Amino acid sequence: MKTIDLRSDTVTLPSPAMREAMYRAELGDDVFGEDPTVNRLQEMAAERMGKEAALFVASGTMGNLVALLTHCGRGDGAIMGNLSHTFLNEAGGSAALGGVYLLAVPNQPDGTIDPAVIERVIPVEDIHHPRVRLICLENTHNYCNGAPLTAQYTAEVAALARRHGMALHLDGARIFNAAIALGVEARELAAPVDSVMFCLSKGLSCPVGSLLCGSAEFIERARRMRKMVGGGMRQAGVLAAAGIVALEQMVDRLEEDHENARILAQGIAEIPGLGLDPKTVRTNIVFFDFLDRRMTVEQFIAALQKEGVLILALGPNRLRAVTHYGIERADIERALQVMRRVMTA
Ligand SMILES: Cc1ncc(COP(=O)(O)O)c(C=O)c1O
Repeated sequence: MKTIDLRSDTVTLPSPAMREAMYRAELGDDVFGEDPTVNRLQEMAAERMGKEAALFVASGTMGNLVALLTHCGRGDGAIMGNLSHTFLNEAGGSAALGGVYLLAVPNQPDGTIDPAVIERVIPVEDIHHPRVRLICLENTHNYCNGAPLTAQYTAEVAALARRHGMALHLDGARIFNAAIALGVEARELAAPVDSVMFCLSKGLSCPVGSLLCGSAEFIERARRMRKMVGGGMRQAGVLAAAGIVALEQMVDRLEEDHENARILAQGIAEIPGLGLDPKTVRTNIVFFDFLDRRMTVEQFIAALQKEGVLILALGPNRLRAVTHYGIERADIERALQVMRRVMTA
């Protein structure tokens, strides 16, 4: 029986074309800038994001960390959503390693932060106040139902940042999901920001890797920060080769994941004891509430697992299922059947 692993799109395995490309990759020492495959991936990434340059990093967490360390010095502040991945799930790296003070403001259910709220928390220039150098947004917004942020909203926040002499960084771990959902090019979503990180190892199915993109000058400084945090990899082309295949072959198919997520959401909404508004599902992330009183959420997860369906608990009675490469329409039907059976048993 196939395990239907809906816990995250990070569980994806590389495609046969990726494995082949990894095997054949031309390699060199990337710390010397001499790995032709890494260099090619970086050029492709910069082009896809509409930026001058890009830097291959080990993970999304490293990409965001390097971005924060490059934009901010010790004691500087960065404003971000209270539900953002960087604030909640990156081990406080920028504070621990860079002395960067994180100012968390409420995310709205659609993943945005009200610009008026951002405006209110920016301190006036005064010796008493920390210097706030950076605003961070997340697109799609993982914990806000994978909501895509529009280019228009991002431009509004970018204008606000500029008015205050601040930079804007985008955690675009799933920016291609956002682009597909909104029917625009990813570079349009990245155009207003100073730096953007996107992941290869989520919906794009690579085993490892993310790209940090920005101006040539920013990326040059980021390269030093990457080295400092131990992210200077040597023959990294063996990993970058999969990234090239991902950008060429795996972006357009994300629509399939979104379609599967819509079908899953519709099905879950019809199961008594599970709470979900299908309108909230715009990309590949499906959050829903466990409302049943006859069993605990842990028992529900265990019962699904026994039948080969894996989902994740993220918060009290809050569950997440994510669609991705390797999950077919038939798997969604089976996952729904199992959920229905468990809930009506
Ligand atoms: C929105 C977002 N940003 C960043 C990351 C971090 O990526 P990684 O797991 O590669 O460090 C994740 C991981 O799930 C994420 O969902």
